[in-house]
Amino acid sequence: MKTYIVGNWKLNFTVGEASIYLHKLLKTLPNYRDLEVVVAPSALALQPLSLQIDRHKMKLAAQNGFYRDTGAYTGEISFAQLRGMVDYALVGHSERRYVLHEDDKMIAKKVAAAIRNRITPILCIGEIESERAFGETADVIRDQLLGGLSEVSDDELSKVIIAYEPVWAISSAKSAKLATPDEIREVVDLIRKTLLDTYGAKAAEGVPVLFGGSVSAANAGAYLTVPGVNGLLIGSSSLILSEFCDIIEIAKRVRE
Ligand code: PGA
Repeated sequence: MKTYIVGNWKLNFTVGEASIYLHKLLKTLPNYRDLEVVVAPSALALQPLSLQIDRHKMKLAAQNGFYRDTGAYTGEISFAQLRGMVDYALVGHSERRYVLHEDDKMIAKKVAAAIRNRITPILCIGEIESERAFGETADVIRDQLLGGLSEVSDDELSKVIIAYEPVWAISSAKSAKLATPDEIREVVDLIRKTLLDTYGAKAAEGVPVLFGGSVSAANAGAYLTVPGVNGLLIGSSSLILSEFCDIIEIAKRVRE
């Protein structure tokens, strides 16, 4: 399985800044066969960046998309419109769940819409701090995972990536704490077991599981060596080009 290094730029960078970043990144990035480097710019930048990108070297992701392809949905951008422009899309990121009130039902429709439009959804799941404190992590993870995948058939599971992002570890959280490799391993094991029980061993084995939450060049090596982790979803550290490149380099070394 490939290792995925995904930069989530959130609401940062103008289109011009995004283009300059991409230009510099492409200049330094060799063609890694087993490493999938992806950045998720704001929706506005996707079209120009899709013309600029060298898809042999890296890919683009959308940060979101709407579940209907066309219609009277003011302000939305559909996966049908993103089709061909991006290879991946984040779905159900915690900021969309908790700031923009997306629920599992909507997230499931978005996962299905992405797949329908040949875009690989990166389904983000993760518990908040109080859920962990009350011992509810396993229930939350199972609910978000199976809820988000509820419209995905057995055959389609291979078209999905899961990202485990404990909300309390995301750098924008008020008192963000670093997740430990043991904490991550426990939840990643649970994700894999839930996929296995629901879809069978063969289908479940092929699903990449990423980790995200305050990932930096200082901890990327430790997180990438957690058994069952196939890559990283990186927010704030991906905004600094040199640090993002360092993390890519670390991922390359971990694979060797
Ligand atoms: P962070 O963000 O790396 O800044 O914690 C990760 C994310 O929200 O995807």
